[in-house]
Amino acid sequence: MTQEQEELIRATVSVLKEHGVALTTHFYKRMFAYNPELKNVFNMGNQQNGRQQTALAMAVLAYAEHIENPGVLMPAVDAIGHKHTSLDIRPEHYLIVGKHLIAAIAEVLGDAATPALLEAWSLAYEQLAALMAGHERTIYQDKVQQTGGWSGWRPFIVKDKVVESEEITSFYLYPADGGAVAGFTPGQYISIRMFLPQLNLTQPRQYSISSTPNGAYYRISVKKETGSTHPDGIISNTLHQEVKIDDKIDVSAPAGTFVLGAATDRPLYFISGGVGLTPLMPMLEASLERNPKQPKVWIHGCKGSAAHAFKDRLAIWGRDHEALSCHFFYDNLSPDAVTTGWHQGWVDLGVLEETLAADGEYYLCGPAPFIRKHYDFLLSKGIPGHAIRFEEFGPASLY
Ligand SMILES: Cc1cc2nc3c(=O)[nH]c(=O)nc-3n(C[C@H](O)[C@H](O)[C@H](O)COP(=O)(O)OP(=O)(O)OC[C@H]3O[C@@H](n4cnc5c(N)ncnc54)[C@H](O)[C@@H]3O)c2cc1C
Ligand code: HEM
Repeated sequence: MTQEQEELIRATVSVLKEHGVALTTHFYKRMFAYNPELKNVFNMGNQQNGRQQTALAMAVLAYAEHIENPGVLMPAVDAIGHKHTSLDIRPEHYLIVGKHLIAAIAEVLGDAATPALLEAWSLAYEQLAALMAGHERTIYQDKVQQTGGWSGWRPFIVKDKVVESEEITSFYLYPADGGAVAGFTPGQYISIRMFLPQLNLTQPRQYSISSTPNGAYYRISVKKETGSTHPDGIISNTLHQEVKIDDKIDVSAPAGTFVLGAATDRPLYFISGGVGLTPLMPMLEASLERNPKQPKVWIHGCKGSAAHAFKDRLAIWGRDHEALSCHFFYDNLSPDAVTTGWHQGWVDLGVLEETLAADGEYYLCGPAPFIRKHYDFLLSKGIPGHAIRFEEFGPASLY
């Protein structure tokens, strides 16, 4: 790409960002009109709430801003690559996305979209697509080279369904072919895919693996998403209400970059809200096995006892491991139940300030406002950003 082309791109990034919603809405509308088969690949729930619209196209714009130094985007390219490979996105899909994205840019810019400008954007997109597809190839290669590993979708059988709380139920997934399953790093997720007759579509969703690696099965723990002012969550309710033992579900191999770090002696903090505890459960379990003496703090908030999943397991670990301390926050806790480790209200790291070590490693998972609040609080207390890892259960982005 010439310097002139790079300048053309930089000059239009701000205009496109300003019209970001128009651009992305237009792009998806166009793509799904010309390539309706892709409705089976995307999470159409995210299309409803607008989050994915912003993620993909805005990521392309973010890349354009760093066009002379795309290396700074590599951590994000890695995280997106994990999501893409867990959804079986292949290099040829990039051609489809590219075609519709450039057409949408032309339509949004109108007369300002000169042939030279569109050529520059096409080249920029091709560069990014090559970078991403190349990285994804290495992720697919890693997946298939593992014992029990695979790429794409593989049928699994639901061998057990265990109620963990009034909202969360676990599903034990074994491969239908009777083979082994790939290992994973605690914190990773799998994607599942199900055909939904009411939409006449297949739909994927991600679920963190809530068990530790065992070579035989994956356990996922799913919250039933009930909407009061909007429709109920479609896959979570199907799983809770309709999926029975011995039913088959397609599963893709473990993926994700929100994982337990390498072994150290630094104190570990696992901080979750609601169903956000699922990726942290195997992280805690693995760290208890790996280094029982390492200090660990489990901080969890939920509505109350009936909604509190895995509380018996945590009670056992808390009893058996001196190095583990637990703090639970309930929206509703009767005043006489407020004792050491039990708190009334939402998770408040302020009341635990003395236990927050400056050299700790922090893992956060929960809804976006939960993560933002605790991330900002930890930063304000001098915890460096690189020591705080987080995952939100929705589309992440490059910017
Ligand atoms: C990396 C990752 C890990 C995850 N791990 C877990 C996990 O371990 N456990 C877990 O339970 N979930 C997890 N999730 C979330 C999970 O993937 C699903 O998003 C969740 O189960 C909801 O899916 P659904 O099909 O039930 O809801 P959807 O049908 O996708 O709806 C999503 C939400 O939008 C609401 N909604 C539906 N229609 C509308 C509308 N028209 N307007 C406004 N709102 C609407 C629904 O009520 C629901 O709350 C994870 C997500 C990611 C990305
Ligand atoms: C340069 C091109 C692309 C960029 C910059 C890009 C960027 C992104 C980003 C930022 C996310 C959110 C990541 C996350 O949730 O963690 C995402 C998710 C996703 N991408 Fe891409 N992407 C590109 C190409 C593609 C292609 C070619 C496809 C396939 C047609 C695709 C399909 C998806 C899907 C299905 C998701 C999951 C989101 C959902 O289901 O709602 N992407 N992408």
